[in-house]
Amino acid sequence: MNRDDLVSAARAAAENAYSPYSHFRVGAAVLADTGELFTGANIENAAYPSSNCAEATAIHTAVAAGTRKIDALAVACIDATDIEGAYPCGRCRQIMSEFWVDRIYVTGPEGMEIREHTFEELLPHCFRLSPPDGADHG
Ligand code: THU
Repeated sequence: MNRDDLVSAARAAAENAYSPYSHFRVGAAVLADTGELFTGANIENAAYPSSNCAEATAIHTAVAAGTRKIDALAVACIDATDIEGAYPCGRCRQIMSEFWVDRIYVTGPEGMEIREHTFEELLPHCFRLSPPDGADHG
């Protein structure tokens, strides 16, 4: 799966966002090391802190299906008006660290630029308890 396919999957997933409070739709797609694709969207809640980001939904869906290593993740904030407003939040970066995401593609709606980052660019010196090769498959 290439970059554009992963981004397309993230944009499609954003259409299923449940975001009646922010009206900000986000989709994410993750490529597991097995080659499997998983997607997710943000899911808000009337009790705001109970909401879930798209990246967390996608990553945790993949993990619940047995994934322990993620090669790439695309996040698409389809209501973002600029690329700087489309970057993953800090909690999602920490969740990415747990499952060894290597590459992150950040974008907005169709036509917006796509930025590629290494995980280390987004969360240097991150906190981990598991071994650095991702060999701890829990
Ligand atoms: N959101 C995400 O889904 N991912 C992020 O990385 C940043 C923010 C969601 C959370 C909330 O539903 C909406 O965007 C506005 O903050």
